[in-house]
Amino acid sequence: MNNEYSQEKGRSSKRSAVLFSLSLLGVSSLPAATLKIDMQDEGKAISPDLVGIFYEDLNYAADGGLYAELIQNRSFEYSATETASWGPFSFWDLVETGDGKGRLSLGNMRPVHVNNPHYLLLNVEAAGLGVGVANEGFDQIPVEAGKSYEVSFWAYQAYMGEKWGGSPEEEEEAMPMVARLENEVGEVIAESSFVVQGRQWKQHSAALVPNATTDKARFVLLAERAGGIALDMVSLFPHDTFMGRENGLRKDLAQTIADLKPKFMRFPGGCLVHGQGIHQYYDWKDSVGPLEQRKAFRNLWGYHQTLGLGYHEFFQFSEDMGAIPIPVVSAGVCCQHSGDSPGRGQEGLPLDEMPDYIEDVLDLIEWANGPADSEWGSVRAEAGHPEPFGLKYLGVGNEDAITSIFEVRFQMIRDAVEKRYPDIVVIGTVGPFASGEDYDNGWEFTRELNLDIIDEHYYVEPDWFWENQERYDAYDRESAEVYVGEYAAHEPNRANTMRSAIAEAAGLVSFERNADIVRFASYAPMLSRRGHTQWRPDLIYFDATQVYPTLNYEVQRLFSVNSGDTALPFSFREVEDGEKLVASVVRDSKSGDIIVKVVNGEPEAISSSIDLSSGKETQYDLKSVVFSHENADAVNQDGEAPQAVTVVESGEVRSQFEREFPANSLTILRLR
Ligand code: AHR
Repeated sequence: MNNEYSQEKGRSSKRSAVLFSLSLLGVSSLPAATLKIDMQDEGKAISPDLVGIFYEDLNYAADGGLYAELIQNRSFEYSATETASWGPFSFWDLVETGDGKGRLSLGNMRPVHVNNPHYLLLNVEAAGLGVGVANEGFDQIPVEAGKSYEVSFWAYQAYMGEKWGGSPEEEEEAMPMVARLENEVGEVIAESSFVVQGRQWKQHSAALVPNATTDKARFVLLAERAGGIALDMVSLFPHDTFMGRENGLRKDLAQTIADLKPKFMRFPGGCLVHGQGIHQYYDWKDSVGPLEQRKAFRNLWGYHQTLGLGYHEFFQFSEDMGAIPIPVVSAGVCCQHSGDSPGRGQEGLPLDEMPDYIEDVLDLIEWANGPADSEWGSVRAEAGHPEPFGLKYLGVGNEDAITSIFEVRFQMIRDAVEKRYPDIVVIGTVGPFASGEDYDNGWEFTRELNLDIIDEHYYVEPDWFWENQERYDAYDRESAEVYVGEYAAHEPNRANTMRSAIAEAAGLVSFERNADIVRFASYAPMLSRRGHTQWRPDLIYFDATQVYPTLNYEVQRLFSVNSGDTALPFSFREVEDGEKLVASVVRDSKSGDIIVKVVNGEPEAISSSIDLSSGKETQYDLKSVVFSHENADAVNQDGEAPQAVTVVESGEVRSQFEREFPANSLTILRLR
């Protein structure tokens, strides 16, 4: 145990008995623990980037989530391979108004781009008051009066007049179209007109500004004469996105994430990265460039990814938040749970395909960091970011079974990256659990390859974080650093309880005490749309209009905004063995603050004396931040005030003072 930075296990008498006898003597409380900080010691350098985020498109995190697009199935690429009941017209309805009559059919002969093979053919036999399609978005389309939304679509005229029978004059005529937003009773609340002419695909767009607010709008696009129209990429996008980015992110959700002040962002997954089946991995190249040229595909979690939120948007979001981007690519193997073979479904890309795959990985680095006139840097520049994104880390693999199939391919990728881009740090993977075969083999392989950082994952019961406080104390300081890429405390009912949040806080202090080797840590998963939750617990829930951060979110935020870069040695004597009371002490060189974090997982308050004197009496300004709830089972309820709120107080203290840590609490003391 690296005891300078950790707690001594308690051996002493029962605190309750002592408190009882003191109360008989009229003494109100006795410090039950002493936290003594060695202020003379210069401390050890720790990662200044410990707390970040992990983003995966799970639980409708991207389309219908962070990506601000309001139309569902905008490119008619939904298919039964994603969800058995889906097809190209899912979430679209034929609309016939007045005496209008029409039909929908699926086109694939003249796609807008080869990566976007299907489109809608709207056949208007009789125009009536307009014939077209309607979309209800992701469960519903929320719009606000006076706000501006960009409606856009790609279209060409398949024919005019009666099919095959129109006169030459008719064939020359343009198709008038109208895009509308309707409220829940069908009243038009915004409208814009378009003219589609000619046989070439062309993008049309206009701003729609609704005159009323509704959470349940319907988007309608109508053709107003008889004829045939090909339609693709039908989009309704708010102008008001996070940081005003075009093709950007839902503002409230992105802001909630940004408020975590994450030091890094890992993306795009998770299991989504390696996919189910060998050619189902997330190909970053499919996710950049013009939207109509991106290659939507099945999400491993059983729905559709437009890839409208792609690599450019991930890097841009990271940059906007001041977070280090950490993309993860497949290690050339698919998920070991692929097909019907749980744990045994791992397959590798054929070795003769590996050189091309590796070139794609190297191209990613050029895309992110290369000059604007390089082959891939120019793709980034054309998308509006001529300056390099400054990629430093690249994750290779996710929770893969550590087999020879994996090892061969991982090493091929690692060697190629190291050769061409020696400054890029490759992050390895050591399986899905905190221990076991893949963990052991992964670490052995890590040492063989002399990797700099590896990615550990664990979803465990809350007590695990208390019982494993010393896990990283024992890690070899000469070996790889650790990225705890996915972790969460799982209650038996998977609820986001205060108990789970406080257990994660305990985990975080153990990471922080060992942040000389624990470089990064990210809770998982981050986002979940109500009604589409596939995995619980998550950090942030949301629906079409509201965002619901959890108690676990608050713990992540408090650690992130109260981080340091030097860990100071301290001792903290527990009163009873196994008591849930842990601490970390860091210094932040920017502010000069000493930051003490104490986590009490007990059902009662514990008092402690805190001693920063190191033989010298000093006065400190104290900012204390307390997040607590007496009920460990407390859970935030959607639409209600959070169960536990953070209380911030300021004052002054001398170098020795008393402090009470409430039941189920995280206390942060910032001393200056
Ligand atoms: O975070 C959800 C999933 O958990 C991730 O996709 C995977 O890496 C892990 O098993």
